[in-house]
Formats: sequence, structure tokens, C-alpha cells
Amino acid sequence: MMYITRRERFNAAHRLFRPEYSDTKNMEVFGKCSNPNWHGHNYELFVTVKGTVDPETGFLINLKALSKLIREKIIQKIDHKNINLEVDFMQGQMASTENLSVAIWNELEKPVRHLGAKLHCVKICESENNFVEYFG
Ligand code: NI
Repeated sequence: MMYITRRERFNAAHRLFRPEYSDTKNMEVFGKCSNPNWHGHNYELFVTVKGTVDPETGFLINLKALSKLIREKIIQKIDHKNINLEVDFMQGQMASTENLSVAIWNELEKPVRHLGAKLHCVKICESENNFVEYFG
């Protein structure tokens, strides 16, 4: 089995909070990510797909097509946006990196299959030291 990864980047704002908590309790539970006036992250998204190499092209997947797909389904909707308020696939959820990785997986799984590969991992780096990986 062969794996190939495409990286895309986006910048987005969010706030982690529960409306029933006070600002103080939100700060205790969610730290700086609960800042009442929002804040942003420079996210990195790594989409890994798996499959077999097409002997005709030598490719597992057309990376240009994969990049276009990620841009259309994810980046255009989230880049320079507020994840809590503006991103359709994150509505009604805590805007955590964990939930974001699951939501992105759900957006990409089927269209990746249509490109002839299988989604293997969605990895999101929220900061230099924190990242999440979701394998479905
Ligand atoms: Ni944050």
C-alpha cells in the first residue's frame, strides 16, 4: 500500500467555550482559546490518501486534482473565516482541532474515493507543538 500526502494551509479564527460557563470557567477549561473576542491560528492541514500506483501514470492519485478538491471543499470555506460562525461543516460543534479533523474527514472521504484513492488520515497542526490526527 502506498500513501501520499498533500499539505494545505489556512488561517482561521475560533473560540472554544460553553455558553453556560462564565468567562472565568471557560478560561479555566479552555485556556487562551476561550478568549471572548476570538483569536486566530495558522493551521496546517495534511491530507493523506492511500491506494495503489497506476502503472500507466506512475501516480497513486493526481495531486493537482486532490489539491483542487481540498481547496474547494475545505480551504475556500474556512480560510480567513470564523470557524464558530461561518464554516458550514462546523456548525453546532465545539471549534476544536479534534472536531475539525473529523468534520474535514467527513467532507473529503467520498470525493477522495471518486479520485480513485482512499482517505487515510486528516492531520491538523493548530500550532507548532499541537496537532491532531484522525484515521476515520
Ligand atoms: Ni485557539
